[in-house]
Formats: sequence, structure tokens, C-alpha cells
Amino acid sequence: MTSEPARGPVDATTTNAWGSLTELSKNLRPDLRGWFAADPARAERLSHQAADLHVDLSKNLVTDEVLASLLALADEVRLTERRDAMFAGEHINVTEDRAVLHTALRRPSDEPLTVDGQDVTADVADELAKVYAFAEKVRSGEWTGVTGEPVRTIVNIGIGGSDLGPVMAYEALEPYVQDGLEVRFVSNIDPTDVAQKTADLDPTTTLFIVASKTFGTLETLTNARLARDWLWRSLVAAGAVEDSDDGRSDAVAKHFVAVSTALDKVAAFGIDPENAFGFWDWVGGRYSVDSAIGTSLAIAIGPDAFAELLAGFHAMDEHFRTTPLENNVPVLMGLLNVWYVNFRDAHTHAVLPYAQQLHRFPAYLQQLTMESNGKSVRWDGTPVTSDTGEVFWGEPGTNGQHAFYQLIHQGTRTIPADFIAVANPAYPLRDAEADVHGLFLANFFAQTKALAFGKTADEVRAEGVAEDLVSAKVFSGNRPTTSILAPALTPSVLGQLVALYEHITFVQGVVWGIDSFDQWGVELGKKLALEIAPAVAGDEAALAAQDPSTAALIARYRELRA
Ligand code: F6P
Repeated sequence: MTSEPARGPVDATTTNAWGSLTELSKNLRPDLRGWFAADPARAERLSHQAADLHVDLSKNLVTDEVLASLLALADEVRLTERRDAMFAGEHINVTEDRAVLHTALRRPSDEPLTVDGQDVTADVADELAKVYAFAEKVRSGEWTGVTGEPVRTIVNIGIGGSDLGPVMAYEALEPYVQDGLEVRFVSNIDPTDVAQKTADLDPTTTLFIVASKTFGTLETLTNARLARDWLWRSLVAAGAVEDSDDGRSDAVAKHFVAVSTALDKVAAFGIDPENAFGFWDWVGGRYSVDSAIGTSLAIAIGPDAFAELLAGFHAMDEHFRTTPLENNVPVLMGLLNVWYVNFRDAHTHAVLPYAQQLHRFPAYLQQLTMESNGKSVRWDGTPVTSDTGEVFWGEPGTNGQHAFYQLIHQGTRTIPADFIAVANPAYPLRDAEADVHGLFLANFFAQTKALAFGKTADEVRAEGVAEDLVSAKVFSGNRPTTSILAPALTPSVLGQLVALYEHITFVQGVVWGIDSFDQWGVELGKKLALEIAPAVAGDEAALAAQDPSTAALIARYRELRA
């Protein structure tokens, strides 16, 4: 493999397609009512199947010419070349000189892939086998705590990609969780988090998983130490271990495991590397839920369901890798996002799951999309030539409808929105004769319809509304949405959804010419927090070294702190 991408980024703004898109946007008068009336096949033509996901793009503000130009843009920025470089393990993470191979985590074990001289498929299969064996031991009760009790609660301690993916997937796949097992997630260095999550726990039946790619993250290591202290204290108080070095190391051996790429640091923390699961620097934190970082999930839902999740990821990878671009859903959705950000002045993008189990999906996507594409320089270090990185946000429907949808329907900004639903609910309840899921999805269909087609002044008047209220009750329509419908929220479908958004993010990054796999923007704050900590703790020289605003705030904090 080469260690450099074959060629530098193409400046998308200099392409012919960019020029065409600029012109098309200038002349575009969005008219979804008219477009559908004139073209009854629009919905069918602009709907696609990607693995189990039915994706309807027809309510987007695009004409065939716009779509053709977006596809031409993909061509001119050499999207497929870069995609293939990623799948092949080239070092497309340029600023960290690393391959980007989350797709190898879900590659079938009989398809070898050699990267930097290493058979990564075999490495993945070996580590996965370790995770699965451990998961089975915990699930069966063979793995016990110091008193011989089986594990009932797993506490995953991690942050960012070592938290958001596992917690999102655990919530999404709750119906698959083994009875009698619960997973909790501690992420924030706010001591409230660890205090609340351990408050009612029985230490004899608790297993902590310290999940950190680097095993150097302040929040995670602090929380791991707090959890270890809590474990020791409560086991000693319960008379389960001696208050001695031996007692303490026995407690850690039975109640702590780790997931990391830095196994030496795991050992330094006191966790036996035998009880640690590894992964590799070619897996970005925000792309790691399907690595050993998902150990808590693998225990909760079991190896079979975890394998199904991986198969779902792989199905979407294959769709992205092999489907012609005009039917390639991640490509089309990524290009549509570029269209809205760069040509239609969209600043944000809503993701609205009509599935309560996906309530952490938008939060998960925020790291995936914004840590990946919130960049101002391209992968060769030159400034970007267009806007990048829209803000992703969202909440499950129908809750959002009663909160922020007002702005999407009648505000002044264009907010493209992805609506996600499943046909078969985990809990098919009835309210008398009514299927409640049907009622729920009626809202999903109603919202995308209202956003697309709105309500004209004449339609409002026809309802007998007084003239002075008509304008307030008009809905302009032409508010873009994508509808994603899956059969059910199975592990496979969840894997497909996550991989879909991973690849959408990739496509946008390629158009903008940026390295979507580094995250230098989070480093400065981390460094400053360490420098400022002594000032907060009372060091006068450190306080004096701060700027006037920060120094005054710290001084006020110190006064207020009892
Ligand atoms: O600070 C950002 C970040 O590096 C994320 O990219 C990562 O997911 C998170 O911190 C946690 O890092 P780690 O898994 O190394 O503890």
C-alpha cells in the first residue's frame, strides 16, 4: 500500500459541475407541488433501495439537472478513486498518516485484506473471537465477581466514540438485551455522572469496561479511578474482600476489563492485559462502535446479534462500494447535503427518527458528522474553498413536532431533514382498535407531506380563516426531506443505518477536500484544561497567568465554591 493518497484534493469550486450547480441554483424556483404534478413518476424514480433501507429522495429540492450536475461533481472530485483508496487501506487520513479501515471491522473473515504488511481481516477475526468468548462467559454466568456472583450490570466508562456508539446501539437494540443484564454508561467528568450511575449498584455483580482508544483521555481515566475506588470501598464494606493490596487487585481482576489500542497503558492502570480487548489506529473513535469498543453491547445482545449488526454494516459498505453512483444512496445523500450547504445556504441538518429506540442516534451522528467534517483546511493543509460541516441535530418524532418543528415548517431558514422510521415496532401496542404504531407513522408521513407541499393562502381561506390570520397560517412548503423506511429495527438494520451515515459523511468530506478522519480541533481545549486546572485548585501563579476574563471567572468560581 502507498502511504500517501495518489493525488491531492481537487478544488471542487473550480470544477465545471460547481459552475453548473451555481447557475442552476440561481435559477431554481423550488416547486414540489408542480414537480410532482408534472412528473407522476418522480417518487418512484427518486426512491432507492440500499440493503433493507427504502430511501425516498423525491421530496428534495432537486431537478434531474441538479442531480446530474451533482453526480458530475462527484466525478470531477474523483469520489470513487478516494472511496476505493479507503476500502483498500491507503493512508487517506493524511494528517495522522493512517489507513481508514472501519469497513474492515465488518468484512467477512474469509476475505483477506493486507494493509501495511498485516492481514487485517485475520486480526479483526481474532479479536472478535476474544470479545465473543468473553461475552458468552458473562452472559452464561461463567464469569463471576469476587464473591462468585454472576454479572448483572455492566458499566461502560468511555467518552466520545468510546461512549456515543455503544450507548446509541444499546438503546436502539434494547429488545435484544438478555434478561437480567443491564448496561450503564459513564462518560462525563462531571462527578455527578459516576455518582449517579453507581449509587444503587451492587459491587459484587458489577463489571466495569474502561473503553478508550488512547487510554489517555482525562475524563475516562478519572472516571475509571473513581469507579475503582467505589468498587474497593463498597466491596470492603460488604465484607467481600480484604482491605489489602491483594484484595484490591483481586477486585480489579474480576470487575474491570478494558478496551483500547494502548494495552501497555491498560496494564499500568492495573488491568491484566489478558482482560483487555484491542483494536487498531486505523479505526477512528467515532467509527469504532463495531470494534471491541462495542464489547458492552456484544455482552448485552450476544455474539449472534452483534454478528448480525456487523453484517448490516457490511451490506451498506457493499452498496456504497459497488452500486453505480446514480443509485448509490450514501453518494446521493452526501451530494444532496453538499447541494444544501454550498448552494442553498443551509447551515444545519435535522435527523428525526420516528423510533423511540433511536433517541440517541442524533447525538451519535453529531460526533460522526461534525468531528469528521468540521474543518477549515483541506487534507493538503490549504484552506477550504467553500463552506463545510453543517450542524447536525435532532430528536425523535413525535416529541420534536411539539418542540422545534415550528421553525422547520415556517422559519426563514432551509433545514434539510432526514425522517427515519421502521414498519414493524418492537412493541406493537393497540389503543382500543387503533394500532398505535400506525398512528405514530401517520405523523411521519404527515410531516414530510406538510413540509413538501405546505398550504396555500387560498387553501387557508377555504377553511374560513379570517383574512388577517391567513398569512400566519400559510405553509410555504418546499422544505426538503428524505424519508428512510426500514422493515424493523433489527441489529442488521441498525448497522446499515450507521454505515449509511458514515459514508454520507465521507462523500461530503471528499467534495470539500478535507481529511474527515482527524480531529485536531478538540486538542486545544484539552491542553488548556490541564493548564488551567492548577489555577482552579488555588495556584495563584497559574491564576495570574490567565487572560483577564478567564482569571476573573476562575476567581469568582473560587469565591463561590463552598
Ligand atoms: O476528544 C475527541 C476524541 O479524541 C474522540 O475522537 C474520541 O472518540 C474521544 O476523544 C475519546 O477518545 P478515547 O477513546 O481515546 O478515550
